[in-house]
Amino acid sequence: MKVNLIKQNNFGSLRNLELSTSTLSSLKENDILVEVYCCGISFADVLAVEGKYQDTPPLPFTPGLEISGVILDIGSKVKNFRIGDEVIALSKWGGFADKVIINENFVVSKLKKMPFDLAACMTINYGTSYYALIERAKIKPKDKILILGASGGIGLSAIEICKAIGCEVTAMASSEDKLLACKEYGADNLVLTKKDNLRDSLKDFKEITFDIIYDTVGGTYTNDSLRFIAWEGKLLIMGFASGDISSIQTNKVLLKGCDIIGIFWGPFARGNKNFNLNCLKGVSDLYNKKLIKLSKPSMFHISEFLIPLEKIKERKSIGKLCLYTDSYKGRQE
Ligand SMILES: NC(=O)c1ccc[n+]([C@@H]2O[C@H](COP(=O)([O-])OP(=O)(O)OC[C@H]3O[C@@H](n4cnc5c(N)ncnc54)[C@H](OP(=O)(O)O)[C@@H]3O)[C@@H](O)[C@H]2O)c1
Repeated sequence: MKVNLIKQNNFGSLRNLELSTSTLSSLKENDILVEVYCCGISFADVLAVEGKYQDTPPLPFTPGLEISGVILDIGSKVKNFRIGDEVIALSKWGGFADKVIINENFVVSKLKKMPFDLAACMTINYGTSYYALIERAKIKPKDKILILGASGGIGLSAIEICKAIGCEVTAMASSEDKLLACKEYGADNLVLTKKDNLRDSLKDFKEITFDIIYDTVGGTYTNDSLRFIAWEGKLLIMGFASGDISSIQTNKVLLKGCDIIGIFWGPFARGNKNFNLNCLKGVSDLYNKKLIKLSKPSMFHISEFLIPLEKIKERKSIGKLCLYTDSYKGRQE
Protein backbone atom coordinates (compact mmCIF):
# COMPACT_ATOMS: atom_id res chain seq x y z
CA MET A 1 0.00 0.00 0.00
CA LYS A 2 1.24 3.50 -0.87
CA VAL A 3 1.59 6.31 1.66
CA ASN A 4 1.93 10.04 0.91
CA LEU A 5 4.13 11.74 3.47
CA ILE A 6 6.39 14.69 4.25
CA LYS A 7 9.96 13.51 4.58
CA GLN A 8 13.56 14.73 4.85
CA ASN A 9 16.81 12.92 4.15
CA ASN A 10 19.10 15.35 6.00
CA PHE A 11 18.53 17.32 9.20
CA GLY A 12 18.90 21.11 8.95
CA SER A 13 16.57 23.55 7.23
CA LEU A 14 12.77 23.21 7.35
CA ARG A 15 13.06 23.49 3.56
CA ASN A 16 14.75 20.07 3.45
CA LEU A 17 11.27 18.62 3.95
CA GLU A 18 9.44 17.47 0.82
CA LEU A 19 6.24 15.73 -0.23
CA SER A 20 6.99 12.14 -1.14
CA THR A 21 5.35 8.75 -1.75
CA SER A 22 6.59 5.48 -0.21
CA THR A 23 5.40 1.92 0.23
CA LEU A 24 4.10 1.03 3.70
CA SER A 25 5.79 -1.88 5.46
CA SER A 26 3.56 -4.82 6.40
CA LEU A 27 1.72 -4.80 9.75
CA LYS A 28 3.31 -6.59 12.71
CA GLU A 29 0.97 -8.55 14.99
CA ASN A 30 0.43 -5.67 17.48
CA ASP A 31 0.36 -2.88 14.90
CA ILE A 32 -2.53 -0.71 13.80
CA LEU A 33 -2.77 1.05 10.43
CA VAL A 34 -4.46 4.43 10.83
CA GLU A 35 -5.80 6.68 8.09
CA VAL A 36 -4.60 10.06 9.36
CA TYR A 37 -7.22 12.84 9.52
CA CYS A 38 -5.33 15.44 11.56
CA CYS A 39 -1.81 15.74 12.95
CA GLY A 40 -0.89 18.19 15.73
CA ILE A 41 2.30 20.19 15.11
CA SER A 42 4.69 20.71 18.02
CA PHE A 43 7.73 22.84 18.79
CA ALA A 44 9.55 19.47 18.97
CA ASP A 45 8.81 18.89 15.25
CA VAL A 46 10.75 22.04 14.37
CA LEU A 47 13.63 21.07 16.68
CA ALA A 48 13.72 17.53 15.24
CA VAL A 49 13.73 18.72 11.61
CA GLU A 50 16.62 21.04 12.46
CA GLY A 51 18.49 18.19 14.19
CA LYS A 52 18.32 19.97 17.58
CA TYR A 53 15.90 17.69 19.45
CA GLN A 54 17.17 15.88 22.58
CA ASP A 55 15.95 12.52 21.26
CA THR A 56 17.21 12.59 17.64
CA PRO A 57 15.10 10.40 15.34
CA PRO A 58 16.69 8.29 12.55
CA LEU A 59 16.75 9.43 8.88
CA PRO A 60 14.83 9.50 6.58
CA PHE A 61 12.59 11.39 8.94
CA THR A 62 8.89 12.28 8.86
CA PRO A 63 7.71 14.75 11.57
CA GLY A 64 4.41 14.38 13.44
CA LEU A 65 4.08 13.19 17.02
CA GLU A 66 0.32 12.99 17.48
CA ILE A 67 -2.60 12.17 15.22
CA SER A 68 -6.31 11.46 15.05
CA GLY A 69 -7.89 9.25 12.43
CA VAL A 70 -9.73 6.05 11.56
CA ILE A 71 -8.39 2.48 11.71
CA LEU A 72 -7.84 0.91 8.27
CA ASP A 73 -6.33 -2.41 9.38
CA ILE A 74 -5.11 -4.24 12.50
CA GLY A 75 -2.39 -6.82 13.25
CA SER A 76 -3.33 -10.41 14.11
CA LYS A 77 -2.97 -9.95 17.91
CA VAL A 78 -4.81 -6.64 18.27
CA LYS A 79 -7.91 -7.31 20.39
CA ASN A 80 -9.12 -3.92 21.67
CA PHE A 81 -9.65 -2.11 18.36
CA ARG A 82 -11.57 -2.77 15.14
CA ILE A 83 -11.36 -1.52 11.58
CA GLY A 84 -13.34 1.74 11.36
CA ASP A 85 -12.70 2.83 14.98
CA GLU A 86 -12.01 6.54 15.50
CA VAL A 87 -8.75 6.89 17.41
CA ILE A 88 -6.11 9.22 18.82
CA ALA A 89 -2.48 8.09 18.77
CA LEU A 90 0.99 9.05 19.86
CA SER A 91 2.71 8.47 16.54
CA LYS A 92 6.12 9.59 17.86
CA TRP A 93 7.09 10.84 14.39
CA GLY A 94 5.57 9.81 11.10
CA GLY A 95 2.28 11.71 11.56
CA PHE A 96 2.80 14.13 8.63
CA ALA A 97 1.32 11.50 6.30
CA ASP A 98 -2.01 10.21 5.05
CA LYS A 99 -1.46 6.82 6.76
CA VAL A 100 0.71 5.66 9.62
CA ILE A 101 1.44 2.34 11.35
CA ILE A 102 1.44 2.54 15.18
CA ASN A 103 1.84 -0.06 17.93
CA GLU A 104 -1.50 -0.61 19.69
CA ASN A 105 0.00 0.53 23.03
CA PHE A 106 0.02 4.11 21.76
CA VAL A 107 -3.52 4.20 20.41
CA VAL A 108 -6.61 5.23 22.40
CA SER A 109 -10.26 5.46 21.38
CA LYS A 110 -11.55 8.93 20.53
CA LEU A 111 -14.73 10.16 22.17
CA LYS A 112 -17.38 10.32 19.41
CA LYS A 113 -18.29 13.88 20.35
CA MET A 114 -14.67 15.11 20.27
CA PRO A 115 -13.86 16.60 16.84
CA PHE A 116 -10.83 15.15 15.00
CA ASP A 117 -8.94 18.48 15.05
CA LEU A 118 -9.15 18.85 18.86
CA ALA A 119 -8.40 15.14 19.30
CA ALA A 120 -5.18 15.33 17.27
CA CYS A 121 -3.90 18.16 19.44
CA MET A 122 -4.79 16.70 22.83
CA THR A 123 -2.06 14.13 23.34
CA ILE A 124 1.17 16.11 23.62
CA ASN A 125 -0.10 19.39 25.07
CA TYR A 126 -2.85 18.26 27.39
CA GLY A 127 -1.19 14.92 28.20
CA THR A 128 2.02 16.75 29.17
CA SER A 129 0.26 19.44 31.19
CA TYR A 130 -1.97 16.91 32.96
CA TYR A 131 1.05 14.79 33.88
CA ALA A 132 3.09 17.85 34.99
CA LEU A 133 0.39 19.70 36.93
CA ILE A 134 -1.84 16.94 38.29
CA GLU A 135 0.50 13.96 38.67
CA ARG A 136 3.80 15.67 39.49
CA ALA A 137 3.05 19.14 40.94
CA LYS A 138 -0.23 17.98 42.50
CA ILE A 139 -1.89 21.38 42.06
CA LYS A 140 -4.73 22.34 44.41
CA PRO A 141 -7.59 24.86 44.23
CA LYS A 142 -6.41 28.45 44.91
CA ASP A 143 -2.74 27.66 44.11
CA LYS A 144 -1.14 30.69 42.44
CA ILE A 145 0.41 29.60 39.16
CA LEU A 146 2.63 31.54 36.75
CA ILE A 147 2.77 30.19 33.18
CA LEU A 148 5.65 31.33 30.95
CA GLY A 149 5.10 31.02 27.17
CA ALA A 150 1.42 30.88 28.12
CA SER A 151 -0.03 31.47 24.64
CA GLY A 152 1.93 28.56 23.12
CA GLY A 153 0.63 25.05 22.59
CA ILE A 154 1.43 23.63 26.02
CA GLY A 155 0.88 27.02 27.68
CA LEU A 156 -2.81 27.21 26.77
CA SER A 157 -3.37 23.61 27.88
CA ALA A 158 -1.75 24.44 31.23
CA ILE A 159 -4.08 27.45 31.67
CA GLU A 160 -7.15 25.27 31.04
CA ILE A 161 -6.09 22.46 33.38
CA CYS A 162 -5.14 24.87 36.20
CA LYS A 163 -8.49 26.66 35.87
CA ALA A 164 -10.36 23.32 35.86
CA ILE A 165 -8.80 22.62 39.28
CA GLY A 166 -9.62 26.12 40.59
CA CYS A 167 -6.15 27.69 40.64
CA GLU A 168 -5.37 31.37 40.10
CA VAL A 169 -3.49 31.66 36.82
CA THR A 170 -1.09 34.39 35.76
CA ALA A 171 -0.17 34.14 32.07
CA MET A 172 2.86 35.78 30.48
CA ALA A 173 3.18 36.38 26.72
CA SER A 174 4.96 38.76 24.37
CA SER A 175 2.04 40.54 22.63
CA GLU A 176 -1.48 41.78 23.35
CA ASP A 177 -2.88 39.28 20.80
CA LYS A 178 -1.20 36.42 22.60
CA LEU A 179 -2.47 37.65 25.99
CA LEU A 180 -5.99 37.83 24.57
CA ALA A 181 -5.74 34.11 23.68
CA CYS A 182 -4.62 33.39 27.28
CA LYS A 183 -7.63 35.28 28.60
CA GLU A 184 -9.96 33.36 26.30
CA TYR A 185 -8.72 30.10 27.83
CA GLY A 186 -9.30 31.38 31.38
CA ALA A 187 -6.16 33.18 32.65
CA ASP A 188 -6.96 35.50 35.59
CA ASN A 189 -3.96 37.82 35.33
CA LEU A 190 -2.09 38.84 32.19
CA VAL A 191 1.53 39.99 32.07
CA LEU A 192 3.16 41.36 28.92
CA THR A 193 6.77 40.22 28.46
CA LYS A 194 9.13 43.18 28.70
CA LYS A 195 12.64 43.10 27.19
CA ASP A 196 12.38 39.28 27.02
CA ASN A 197 13.19 39.27 30.72
CA LEU A 198 11.21 37.98 33.69
CA ARG A 199 12.42 40.53 36.23
CA ASP A 200 11.43 43.50 34.03
CA SER A 201 8.15 41.87 33.09
CA LEU A 202 7.05 41.33 36.71
CA LYS A 203 8.43 44.65 38.02
CA ASP A 204 5.07 46.39 38.33
CA PHE A 205 3.17 43.26 39.18
CA LYS A 206 1.87 43.16 42.72
CA GLU A 207 1.76 39.37 42.98
CA ILE A 208 5.39 38.60 43.69
CA THR A 209 5.41 34.93 44.57
CA PHE A 210 3.81 31.90 42.96
CA ASP A 211 3.20 28.41 44.32
CA ILE A 212 4.02 26.91 40.94
CA ILE A 213 5.89 28.29 37.93
CA TYR A 214 5.39 26.44 34.64
CA ASP A 215 8.48 27.30 32.58
CA THR A 216 8.32 26.48 28.85
CA VAL A 217 10.88 29.16 27.90
CA GLY A 218 14.15 28.32 29.75
CA GLY A 219 17.25 30.54 29.49
CA THR A 220 17.38 33.46 31.95
CA TYR A 221 13.69 32.91 32.77
CA THR A 222 14.50 29.73 34.71
CA ASN A 223 16.95 31.26 37.20
CA ASP A 224 14.84 34.42 37.52
CA SER A 225 11.81 32.23 38.26
CA LEU A 226 13.48 31.24 41.54
CA ARG A 227 13.13 34.89 42.70
CA PHE A 228 9.35 34.70 42.24
CA ILE A 229 8.66 31.25 43.62
CA ALA A 230 6.90 30.96 46.99
CA TRP A 231 8.43 29.18 50.00
CA GLU A 232 8.18 25.41 49.27
CA GLY A 233 6.93 26.25 45.77
CA LYS A 234 7.52 24.14 42.66
CA LEU A 235 9.32 25.11 39.47
CA LEU A 236 8.30 22.90 36.54
CA ILE A 237 10.96 22.62 33.83
CA MET A 238 8.80 22.12 30.74
CA GLY A 239 10.98 23.19 27.79
CA PHE A 240 13.40 25.66 26.27
CA ALA A 241 11.52 27.68 23.66
CA SER A 242 14.15 30.44 24.02
CA GLY A 243 16.77 27.97 22.77
CA ASP A 244 18.86 28.49 25.95
CA ILE A 245 19.31 26.17 28.89
CA SER A 246 19.88 27.74 32.30
CA SER A 247 22.45 26.80 34.97
CA ILE A 248 20.46 26.77 38.20
CA GLN A 249 21.79 28.80 41.17
CA THR A 250 21.30 26.23 43.89
CA ASN A 251 21.55 28.80 46.74
CA LYS A 252 18.19 30.18 45.53
CA VAL A 253 16.70 26.69 45.64
CA LEU A 254 17.84 26.35 49.26
CA LEU A 255 16.63 29.84 50.26
CA LYS A 256 13.14 29.14 48.86
CA GLY A 257 13.00 25.51 50.05
CA CYS A 258 11.51 24.81 46.62
CA ASP A 259 11.31 21.78 44.34
CA ILE A 260 12.50 21.79 40.74
CA ILE A 261 10.67 19.17 38.70
CA GLY A 262 11.76 18.07 35.21
CA ILE A 263 9.04 16.94 32.83
CA PHE A 264 9.73 14.92 29.67
CA TRP A 265 6.41 13.42 28.76
CA GLY A 266 7.27 11.63 25.48
CA PRO A 267 9.67 8.99 26.86
CA PHE A 268 7.62 8.82 30.06
CA ALA A 269 4.45 8.11 28.10
CA ARG A 270 6.12 5.48 25.91
CA GLY A 271 7.56 3.64 28.91
CA ASN A 272 4.46 3.68 31.12
CA LYS A 273 1.54 2.55 29.04
CA ASN A 274 -1.09 2.54 31.78
CA PHE A 275 -0.03 5.81 33.29
CA ASN A 276 -0.01 7.40 29.85
CA LEU A 277 -3.54 6.18 29.29
CA ASN A 278 -4.50 7.50 32.74
CA CYS A 279 -3.30 10.99 31.79
CA LEU A 280 -5.20 10.91 28.49
CA LYS A 281 -8.28 9.51 30.22
CA GLY A 282 -7.97 12.32 32.80
CA VAL A 283 -7.94 14.88 29.98
CA SER A 284 -10.94 13.22 28.27
CA ASP A 285 -12.83 13.25 31.61
CA LEU A 286 -12.21 17.00 32.07
CA TYR A 287 -13.45 17.55 28.50
CA ASN A 288 -16.49 15.33 29.05
CA LYS A 289 -17.40 17.30 32.19
CA LYS A 290 -16.95 20.54 30.20
CA LEU A 291 -14.22 21.67 32.62
CA ILE A 292 -11.86 22.22 29.67
CA LYS A 293 -12.72 22.98 26.05
CA LEU A 294 -9.37 21.86 24.47
CA SER A 295 -7.65 24.57 22.48
CA LYS A 296 -8.92 24.93 18.93
CA PRO A 297 -5.95 24.62 16.55
CA SER A 298 -5.27 26.70 13.44
CA MET A 299 -5.64 24.28 10.53
CA PHE A 300 -3.40 23.83 7.45
CA HIS A 301 -3.70 21.29 4.63
CA ILE A 302 -0.81 18.80 4.73
CA SER A 303 0.58 20.26 1.48
CA GLU A 304 1.02 23.61 3.33
CA PHE A 305 3.24 22.01 6.01
CA LEU A 306 5.98 24.66 5.72
CA ILE A 307 3.71 27.57 6.77
CA PRO A 308 2.90 26.35 10.31
CA LEU A 309 6.44 25.07 10.92
CA GLU A 310 7.86 28.49 10.01
CA LYS A 311 5.27 30.26 12.18
CA ILE A 312 6.40 28.21 15.19
CA LYS A 313 10.08 28.78 14.40
CA GLU A 314 9.55 32.54 14.02
CA ARG A 315 7.53 32.80 17.27
CA LYS A 316 4.45 33.93 15.32
CA SER A 317 2.10 31.09 16.28
CA ILE A 318 -0.66 31.40 18.87
CA GLY A 319 -1.88 28.19 20.49
CA LYS A 320 -1.72 24.92 18.60
CA LEU A 321 -1.26 24.43 14.85
CA CYS A 322 -2.51 21.33 13.06
CA LEU A 323 -2.31 19.63 9.63
CA TYR A 324 -5.29 17.94 7.99
CA THR A 325 -5.47 15.43 5.13
CA ASP A 326 -7.89 15.01 2.22
CA SER A 327 -9.72 12.28 4.22
CA TYR A 328 -10.51 14.83 6.96
CA LYS A 329 -11.60 17.39 4.37
CA GLY A 330 -13.86 14.80 2.69
CA ARG A 331 -15.50 14.06 6.04
CA GLN A 332 -16.25 17.76 6.68
CA GLU A 333 -17.91 18.28 3.28
N1 LIG B 1 8.42 18.55 28.64
C1 LIG B 1 7.70 17.99 27.71
O1 LIG B 1 7.40 16.80 27.75
C2 LIG B 1 7.24 18.88 26.60
C3 LIG B 1 6.05 18.62 25.88
C4 LIG B 1 5.65 19.52 24.89
C5 LIG B 1 6.43 20.65 24.62
N2 LIG B 1 7.61 20.84 25.33
C6 LIG B 1 8.47 22.00 25.10
O2 LIG B 1 7.82 23.17 25.57
C7 LIG B 1 8.24 24.31 24.83
C8 LIG B 1 7.02 25.02 24.28
O3 LIG B 1 6.33 24.15 23.37
P1 LIG B 1 5.00 24.64 22.62
O4 LIG B 1 4.52 23.50 21.81
O5 LIG B 1 4.10 25.28 23.58
O6 LIG B 1 5.64 25.72 21.64
P2 LIG B 1 4.95 27.02 20.98
O7 LIG B 1 3.52 26.76 20.74
O8 LIG B 1 5.82 27.43 19.85
O9 LIG B 1 5.06 28.10 22.17
C9 LIG B 1 6.32 28.48 22.70
C10 LIG B 1 6.14 29.81 23.39
O10 LIG B 1 7.40 30.17 23.98
C11 LIG B 1 7.51 31.57 23.97
N3 LIG B 1 8.90 32.04 23.74
C12 LIG B 1 9.60 32.79 24.59
N4 LIG B 1 10.81 33.06 24.12
C13 LIG B 1 10.87 32.49 22.92
C14 LIG B 1 11.88 32.46 21.93
N5 LIG B 1 13.05 33.08 22.10
N6 LIG B 1 11.62 31.78 20.81
C15 LIG B 1 10.44 31.15 20.64
N7 LIG B 1 9.43 31.17 21.55
C16 LIG B 1 9.67 31.83 22.67
C17 LIG B 1 6.58 32.10 22.88
O11 LIG B 1 5.65 32.96 23.50
P3 LIG B 1 5.93 34.51 23.69
O12 LIG B 1 6.28 35.06 22.34
O13 LIG B 1 4.65 34.99 24.22
O14 LIG B 1 7.04 34.62 24.68
C18 LIG B 1 5.80 30.90 22.38
O15 LIG B 1 4.41 31.13 22.39
C19 LIG B 1 9.18 23.76 23.75
O16 LIG B 1 10.52 23.90 24.18
C20 LIG B 1 8.80 22.30 23.65
O17 LIG B 1 9.84 21.46 23.15
C21 LIG B 1 7.99 19.99 26.31
